[in-house]
Amino acid sequence: MSEIKSVAIAGASGSLGPHVLKALVDANFQVTVLTRSKKQGAFDASVKVVEVDFTSVESLTAALKGIDGLVSTMAAAAIENQTVLIDAAIAAGVKRFMPSEYGSCTTSPKLEALPIYAPMFKIRQYLQEKAKAGKLTWTVLACGAFLDFLFGGPMLLDYANHKAILFDEGDNRISSTSLPNVGKAIVGIFKNFEATKNKIVRSSEVILTQNKLLRIAEGVRPDIKWETSKVQTSAVLKEGLDELSAGDFSMPVIMKILKGTAFAGDIYGGAYDETDNELLGVKELTEEDLKKLVAGKLA
Ligand SMILES: NC(=O)c1ccc[n+]([C@@H]2O[C@H](COP(=O)([O-])OP(=O)(O)OC[C@H]3O[C@@H](n4cnc5c(N)ncnc54)[C@H](OP(=O)(O)O)[C@@H]3O)[C@@H](O)[C@H]2O)c1
Repeated sequence: MSEIKSVAIAGASGSLGPHVLKALVDANFQVTVLTRSKKQGAFDASVKVVEVDFTSVESLTAALKGIDGLVSTMAAAAIENQTVLIDAAIAAGVKRFMPSEYGSCTTSPKLEALPIYAPMFKIRQYLQEKAKAGKLTWTVLACGAFLDFLFGGPMLLDYANHKAILFDEGDNRISSTSLPNVGKAIVGIFKNFEATKNKIVRSSEVILTQNKLLRIAEGVRPDIKWETSKVQTSAVLKEGLDELSAGDFSMPVIMKILKGTAFAGDIYGGAYDETDNELLGVKELTEEDLKKLVAGKLA
């Protein structure tokens, strides 16, 4: 029997949040949304929405009274500030906290000092300390790159222009989970309270490589000729880090750091050969499912 009946979600209005909110509601948890500001029509009228100040332990503690589980899907910019949310969760007696992370290689020790990844390590460390003191329990979900993002733009293949910039040799592996399945996995975590206690769990609907996608694309549309070029992930990462050090915090620079690590394959552990899919209720894609996805992009 799950110990979690009521769940609060912080960051429900973003890219990932709505999928997690839907999964929690569909799984019949009593759901509360914590938001910086209530926006008309942002959430279904049946969902309880509470406006909070994410910088105030008092404000958050009041909102978290009676909540068993708290999942954060807050924006990357707000990750470091989750210590306030954790302190409030402890004060309110929340049993399980899931920090906003949801990455592919975010837990690789090699990335601990990197600017984008460092806040996630700090939060994990903070949670470990609190758990050791018996204050609350935590779970981190590593889910690989969002499948919707990989297919939503020219991330691995540029389906619209039939171009591919291959990272290294194009054989780097990356795990991926769709946004709805990240939601399902989070439900699976709350439903498997003991088995997911104080640990990193992994979901991976599929392990992709650019060459695999290219082969599928050529199979489903032999008439299309692909233009390919190559780039070294180590060079992409270095360029991003240099630009960031020079004070450029723009999205293209952040993307270089993300691509230089998440798309570097096994160097940073971006592909999970062992997963918690079964426990979390995440179904893996078949070759046929993948073929349909690629064909859909080339229709
Ligand atoms: N694996 C992947 O491929 C992948 C890709 C993208 C993101 N991610 C991860 O997924 C998580 C969620 O990302 P997302 O893209 O869904 O987030 P997002 O859309 O950028 O933001 C989510 C929500 O965070 C809340 N928020 C609270 N404090 C904030 C602040 N100071 N600045 C901005 N927003 C704030 C906002 O909700 P309210 O306005 O309602 O408060 C916002 O809608 C992050 O951990 C991110 O690293 C993973």
